[in-house]
Amino acid sequence: MRHLIDIQDLSTQEIEHLIDVANDIMANPDKYAEKCRRKKLATLFYEPSTRTRLSFESAMLELGGSVIGFSEAASSSAAKGESVADTARTVSCFADIIAMRHPKEGAPLVASMAASIPVINAGDGGHKHPTQTLTDLLTISRVKGRLGNMTVGLCGDLMFGRTVHSLIGALSRYEGIRFVMISPEELTIPDYVQQDIQKSNIPYRETRSLEEAMPELDVLYMTRVQRERFFNEADYIRLKDSYILTPEKLRTAKEDLAILHPLPRVNEISTAVDSDPRACYFKQVLCGKYIRMALIMMLLEVE
Ligand code: NCD
Repeated sequence: MRHLIDIQDLSTQEIEHLIDVANDIMANPDKYAEKCRRKKLATLFYEPSTRTRLSFESAMLELGGSVIGFSEAASSSAAKGESVADTARTVSCFADIIAMRHPKEGAPLVASMAASIPVINAGDGGHKHPTQTLTDLLTISRVKGRLGNMTVGLCGDLMFGRTVHSLIGALSRYEGIRFVMISPEELTIPDYVQQDIQKSNIPYRETRSLEEAMPELDVLYMTRVQRERFFNEADYIRLKDSYILTPEKLRTAKEDLAILHPLPRVNEISTAVDSDPRACYFKQVLCGKYIRMALIMMLLEVE
Protein backbone atom coordinates (compact mmCIF):
# COMPACT_ATOMS: atom_id res chain seq x y z
CA MET A 1 0.00 0.00 0.00
CA ARG A 2 1.28 3.47 -0.99
CA HIS A 3 0.81 6.79 0.79
CA LEU A 4 1.78 10.30 -0.33
CA ILE A 5 3.13 12.15 2.70
CA ASP A 6 6.10 13.90 1.12
CA ILE A 7 6.81 14.62 -2.54
CA GLN A 8 9.95 12.49 -2.09
CA ASP A 9 7.65 9.46 -1.77
CA LEU A 10 7.32 9.67 -5.56
CA SER A 11 10.13 8.98 -8.02
CA THR A 12 10.72 11.47 -10.82
CA GLN A 13 9.40 8.86 -13.24
CA GLU A 14 6.19 8.51 -11.21
CA ILE A 15 5.71 12.28 -11.11
CA GLU A 16 6.09 12.42 -14.87
CA HIS A 17 3.65 9.54 -15.25
CA LEU A 18 1.09 11.45 -13.13
CA ILE A 19 1.57 14.51 -15.35
CA ASP A 20 1.03 12.39 -18.48
CA VAL A 21 -2.13 10.83 -17.03
CA ALA A 22 -3.47 14.26 -15.96
CA ASN A 23 -2.91 15.58 -19.49
CA ASP A 24 -4.70 12.55 -20.89
CA ILE A 25 -7.66 13.05 -18.52
CA MET A 26 -7.94 16.67 -19.69
CA ALA A 27 -8.03 15.49 -23.31
CA ASN A 28 -10.29 12.44 -22.77
CA PRO A 29 -12.36 12.87 -19.59
CA ASP A 30 -14.94 10.25 -20.60
CA LYS A 31 -12.33 7.51 -20.54
CA TYR A 32 -11.92 8.05 -16.79
CA ALA A 33 -15.53 8.62 -15.74
CA GLU A 34 -15.99 5.15 -14.18
CA LYS A 35 -12.45 4.37 -12.98
CA CYS A 36 -13.26 4.70 -9.28
CA ARG A 37 -16.83 3.42 -9.29
CA ARG A 38 -17.78 2.15 -5.80
CA LYS A 39 -14.63 3.70 -4.30
CA LYS A 40 -14.83 6.26 -1.51
CA LEU A 41 -12.53 9.15 -0.68
CA ALA A 42 -12.55 10.51 2.88
CA THR A 43 -11.46 14.15 3.20
CA LEU A 44 -10.35 14.75 6.80
CA PHE A 45 -9.69 18.48 7.01
CA TYR A 46 -8.71 19.88 10.40
CA GLU A 47 -7.80 23.24 8.83
CA PRO A 48 -9.57 25.62 6.42
CA SER A 49 -9.43 24.90 2.71
CA THR A 50 -11.29 25.78 -0.47
CA ARG A 51 -9.28 24.53 -3.44
CA THR A 52 -7.52 21.51 -1.98
CA ARG A 53 -10.60 19.91 -0.42
CA LEU A 54 -12.99 20.73 -3.24
CA SER A 55 -10.52 19.65 -5.91
CA PHE A 56 -9.97 16.32 -4.15
CA GLU A 57 -13.72 15.86 -3.87
CA SER A 58 -14.48 16.82 -7.47
CA ALA A 59 -11.56 14.64 -8.61
CA MET A 60 -13.13 11.59 -6.93
CA LEU A 61 -16.63 12.44 -8.20
CA GLU A 62 -15.33 12.81 -11.77
CA LEU A 63 -13.77 9.36 -11.46
CA GLY A 64 -17.21 7.96 -10.62
CA GLY A 65 -16.46 7.53 -6.92
CA SER A 66 -18.01 9.15 -3.88
CA VAL A 67 -16.85 11.27 -0.99
CA ILE A 68 -17.28 11.42 2.80
CA GLY A 69 -15.50 13.54 5.40
CA PHE A 70 -15.38 16.64 7.52
CA SER A 71 -14.10 20.13 6.84
CA GLU A 72 -13.30 21.32 10.37
CA ALA A 73 -11.91 19.66 13.48
CA ALA A 74 -14.81 21.02 15.54
CA SER A 75 -17.30 18.75 13.74
CA SER A 76 -15.19 15.58 14.17
CA SER A 77 -14.33 13.52 17.25
CA ALA A 78 -11.06 15.46 17.46
CA ALA A 79 -13.18 17.92 19.45
CA LYS A 80 -13.72 15.12 22.00
CA GLY A 81 -10.00 14.38 22.16
CA GLU A 82 -9.69 11.50 19.70
CA SER A 83 -6.17 10.96 18.33
CA VAL A 84 -5.36 11.26 14.63
CA ALA A 85 -4.28 7.60 14.68
CA ASP A 86 -7.65 6.41 16.04
CA THR A 87 -9.54 8.58 13.56
CA ALA A 88 -7.46 7.15 10.69
CA ARG A 89 -8.09 3.58 11.85
CA THR A 90 -11.81 4.31 12.10
CA VAL A 91 -12.08 5.93 8.70
CA SER A 92 -10.22 2.95 7.17
CA CYS A 93 -13.40 0.96 7.93
CA PHE A 94 -15.52 3.30 5.80
CA ALA A 95 -13.42 4.60 2.92
CA ASP A 96 -10.81 3.44 0.37
CA ILE A 97 -8.46 6.43 0.54
CA ILE A 98 -7.90 9.42 2.85
CA ALA A 99 -6.85 13.01 2.08
CA MET A 100 -5.87 14.73 5.34
CA ARG A 101 -5.04 18.35 6.15
CA HIS A 102 -3.89 19.13 9.67
CA PRO A 103 -2.31 22.12 11.46
CA LYS A 104 0.30 19.86 13.12
CA GLU A 105 3.38 18.91 11.15
CA GLY A 106 3.55 15.13 10.81
CA ALA A 107 -0.13 14.38 11.52
CA PRO A 108 -0.75 12.76 8.09
CA LEU A 109 2.36 10.61 8.62
CA VAL A 110 0.96 9.42 11.96
CA ALA A 111 -2.37 8.73 10.23
CA SER A 112 -0.64 6.70 7.50
CA MET A 113 0.98 4.46 10.12
CA ALA A 114 -2.41 3.65 11.67
CA ALA A 115 -4.57 3.49 8.53
CA SER A 116 -5.14 0.37 6.46
CA ILE A 117 -5.86 2.49 3.34
CA PRO A 118 -3.69 5.00 1.45
CA VAL A 119 -3.27 8.42 3.11
CA ILE A 120 -2.51 11.61 1.19
CA ASN A 121 -1.02 14.63 2.95
CA ALA A 122 -3.18 17.59 1.90
CA GLY A 123 -1.01 20.02 3.91
CA ASP A 124 0.52 19.58 7.37
CA GLY A 125 1.15 22.81 9.27
CA GLY A 126 4.06 24.82 7.91
CA HIS A 127 5.75 21.65 6.66
CA LYS A 128 4.77 20.07 3.33
CA HIS A 129 2.02 20.04 0.71
CA PRO A 130 2.89 17.45 -1.94
CA THR A 131 -0.34 17.56 -3.97
CA GLN A 132 0.01 21.32 -4.42
CA THR A 133 3.46 20.56 -5.81
CA LEU A 134 2.03 18.06 -8.28
CA THR A 135 -0.43 20.78 -9.28
CA ASP A 136 2.40 23.29 -9.70
CA LEU A 137 4.50 20.87 -11.76
CA LEU A 138 1.60 20.08 -14.09
CA THR A 139 0.96 23.82 -14.53
CA ILE A 140 4.62 24.63 -15.20
CA SER A 141 5.03 21.76 -17.65
CA ARG A 142 1.90 22.78 -19.56
CA VAL A 143 2.75 26.48 -19.67
CA LYS A 144 6.53 26.29 -20.21
CA GLY A 145 6.76 22.90 -21.95
CA ARG A 146 9.54 21.80 -19.56
CA LEU A 147 10.43 21.35 -15.89
CA GLY A 148 14.18 22.01 -16.07
CA ASN A 149 16.42 24.78 -17.42
CA MET A 150 14.78 27.72 -15.75
CA THR A 151 15.13 30.31 -13.03
CA VAL A 152 12.35 30.06 -10.49
CA GLY A 153 11.63 32.95 -8.12
CA LEU A 154 9.93 31.97 -4.85
CA CYS A 155 8.48 35.07 -3.22
CA GLY A 156 6.84 35.81 0.12
CA ASP A 157 6.59 33.58 3.18
CA LEU A 158 9.28 30.98 2.50
CA MET A 159 9.52 30.07 6.19
CA PHE A 160 5.96 28.88 6.81
CA GLY A 161 4.81 28.33 3.21
CA ARG A 162 4.51 24.55 2.96
CA THR A 163 3.86 24.67 -0.79
CA VAL A 164 7.30 26.21 -1.31
CA HIS A 165 9.04 23.50 0.73
CA SER A 166 7.53 20.72 -1.36
CA LEU A 167 8.04 22.53 -4.66
CA ILE A 168 11.75 23.01 -3.93
CA GLY A 169 12.04 19.28 -3.20
CA ALA A 170 10.53 18.39 -6.57
CA LEU A 171 12.16 21.00 -8.84
CA SER A 172 15.61 20.34 -7.34
CA ARG A 173 15.63 17.06 -9.27
CA TYR A 174 15.70 18.77 -12.65
CA GLU A 175 18.73 19.89 -14.66
CA GLY A 176 19.31 23.58 -15.09
CA ILE A 177 17.05 24.73 -12.25
CA ARG A 178 18.09 27.86 -10.35
CA PHE A 179 16.17 29.35 -7.45
CA VAL A 180 15.92 32.97 -6.39
CA MET A 181 14.50 33.19 -2.87
CA ILE A 182 12.71 36.50 -2.39
CA SER A 183 11.59 37.09 1.20
CA PRO A 184 11.96 39.34 4.21
CA GLU A 185 14.84 38.32 6.46
CA GLU A 186 12.39 36.92 9.05
CA LEU A 187 10.69 34.61 6.52
CA THR A 188 13.59 32.86 4.75
CA ILE A 189 13.40 29.10 4.05
CA PRO A 190 13.87 26.80 7.08
CA ASP A 191 17.25 25.15 7.57
CA TYR A 192 16.03 21.66 6.65
CA VAL A 193 14.87 22.89 3.23
CA GLN A 194 18.12 24.79 2.73
CA GLN A 195 20.08 21.62 3.48
CA ASP A 196 18.05 19.72 0.87
CA ILE A 197 18.93 22.33 -1.76
CA GLN A 198 22.60 22.24 -0.83
CA LYS A 199 22.63 18.44 -1.03
CA SER A 200 21.26 18.53 -4.54
CA ASN A 201 23.81 21.18 -5.61
CA ILE A 202 21.13 23.46 -7.07
CA PRO A 203 22.33 27.03 -7.48
CA TYR A 204 20.28 29.58 -5.55
CA ARG A 205 20.52 33.03 -4.16
CA GLU A 206 18.55 35.14 -1.70
CA THR A 207 17.29 38.67 -2.16
CA ARG A 208 14.93 41.01 -0.34
CA SER A 209 13.82 42.72 -3.54
CA LEU A 210 11.26 41.40 -6.03
CA GLU A 211 12.08 44.24 -8.45
CA GLU A 212 15.75 43.31 -8.46
CA ALA A 213 15.01 39.63 -9.21
CA MET A 214 12.24 40.15 -11.77
CA PRO A 215 14.19 40.40 -15.08
CA GLU A 216 15.88 37.01 -14.71
CA LEU A 217 12.82 34.92 -13.77
CA ASP A 218 11.12 32.29 -15.94
CA VAL A 219 8.64 31.35 -13.19
CA LEU A 220 7.52 33.58 -10.34
CA TYR A 221 5.86 31.67 -7.49
CA MET A 222 4.07 34.15 -5.21
CA THR A 223 2.86 33.12 -1.74
CA ARG A 224 0.66 34.48 1.03
CA VAL A 225 2.18 35.44 4.38
CA GLN A 226 0.86 32.59 6.56
CA ARG A 227 -0.94 34.50 9.29
CA GLU A 228 -2.06 31.35 11.15
CA ARG A 229 1.56 30.26 11.75
CA PHE A 230 2.72 33.48 13.44
CA PHE A 231 3.25 33.64 17.17
CA ASN A 232 2.17 37.25 17.36
CA GLU A 233 -0.13 39.42 15.28
CA ALA A 234 2.21 42.44 15.31
CA ASP A 235 4.86 40.49 13.36
CA TYR A 236 2.25 39.40 10.85
CA ILE A 237 1.02 42.96 10.34
CA ARG A 238 4.55 44.23 9.87
CA LEU A 239 5.38 41.57 7.25
CA LYS A 240 2.10 40.91 5.47
CA ASP A 241 2.53 43.47 2.68
CA SER A 242 6.24 42.89 2.09
CA TYR A 243 5.58 42.04 -1.58
CA ILE A 244 2.72 43.16 -3.75
CA LEU A 245 2.92 42.20 -7.41
CA THR A 246 1.53 44.93 -9.67
CA PRO A 247 1.51 45.55 -13.45
CA GLU A 248 4.25 48.18 -12.93
CA LYS A 249 6.57 45.65 -11.30
CA LEU A 250 6.03 43.31 -14.26
CA ARG A 251 7.40 45.84 -16.75
CA THR A 252 10.91 44.42 -16.46
CA ALA A 253 9.75 40.78 -16.52
CA LYS A 254 10.31 38.33 -19.36
CA GLU A 255 7.51 38.12 -21.90
CA ASP A 256 7.08 34.42 -21.25
CA LEU A 257 7.23 34.61 -17.45
CA ALA A 258 4.74 32.27 -15.74
CA ILE A 259 3.20 33.71 -12.55
CA LEU A 260 1.96 31.05 -10.14
CA HIS A 261 0.32 31.26 -6.71
CA PRO A 262 -1.15 28.31 -4.78
CA LEU A 263 -3.96 30.65 -3.63
CA PRO A 264 -5.73 31.95 -1.59
CA ARG A 265 -4.32 35.37 -2.41
CA VAL A 266 -4.70 38.11 0.15
CA ASN A 267 -2.82 41.21 -0.98
CA GLU A 268 0.28 39.90 -2.64
CA ILE A 269 -0.96 40.00 -6.24
CA SER A 270 -2.95 43.02 -7.34
CA THR A 271 -6.15 41.99 -9.18
CA ALA A 272 -4.94 44.20 -12.04
CA VAL A 273 -2.39 41.43 -12.80
CA ASP A 274 -5.14 38.84 -13.38
CA SER A 275 -5.72 39.90 -16.98
CA ASP A 276 -2.00 39.69 -17.84
CA PRO A 277 -1.47 36.62 -20.06
CA ARG A 278 1.45 35.66 -17.79
CA ALA A 279 -0.89 35.12 -14.81
CA CYS A 280 -1.35 31.33 -14.49
CA TYR A 281 -2.86 30.97 -11.01
CA PHE A 282 -6.39 30.20 -12.07
CA LYS A 283 -5.18 27.70 -14.69
CA GLN A 284 -3.21 26.21 -11.81
CA VAL A 285 -6.43 25.61 -9.83
CA LEU A 286 -7.87 23.54 -12.67
CA CYS A 287 -4.64 21.55 -13.00
CA GLY A 288 -5.08 20.64 -9.31
CA LYS A 289 -8.21 18.66 -10.00
CA TYR A 290 -6.73 16.65 -12.88
CA ILE A 291 -3.48 15.77 -11.15
CA ARG A 292 -5.42 14.65 -8.05
CA MET A 293 -7.52 12.40 -10.30
CA ALA A 294 -4.31 10.85 -11.59
CA LEU A 295 -2.94 10.47 -8.05
CA ILE A 296 -6.10 8.85 -6.65
CA MET A 297 -6.01 6.30 -9.47
CA MET A 298 -2.34 5.56 -8.86
CA LEU A 299 -2.77 5.01 -5.12
CA LEU A 300 -5.93 2.93 -5.58
CA GLU A 301 -4.18 0.95 -8.34
CA VAL A 302 -7.11 1.30 -10.70
CA GLU A 303 -5.13 2.40 -13.76
C1 NCD B 1 -1.93 26.68 0.26
C2 NCD B 1 -1.88 25.92 1.59
O1 NCD B 1 -2.92 25.53 2.12
O2 NCD B 1 -0.77 25.71 2.02
N1 NCD B 1 -3.21 26.68 -0.30
C3 NCD B 1 -3.59 25.63 -1.09
O3 NCD B 1 -3.59 24.50 -0.68
N2 NCD B 1 -3.88 25.89 -2.37
C4 NCD B 1 -1.33 28.04 0.35
C5 NCD B 1 -1.84 28.98 1.40
O4 NCD B 1 -2.75 28.67 2.18
O5 NCD B 1 -1.32 30.09 1.43
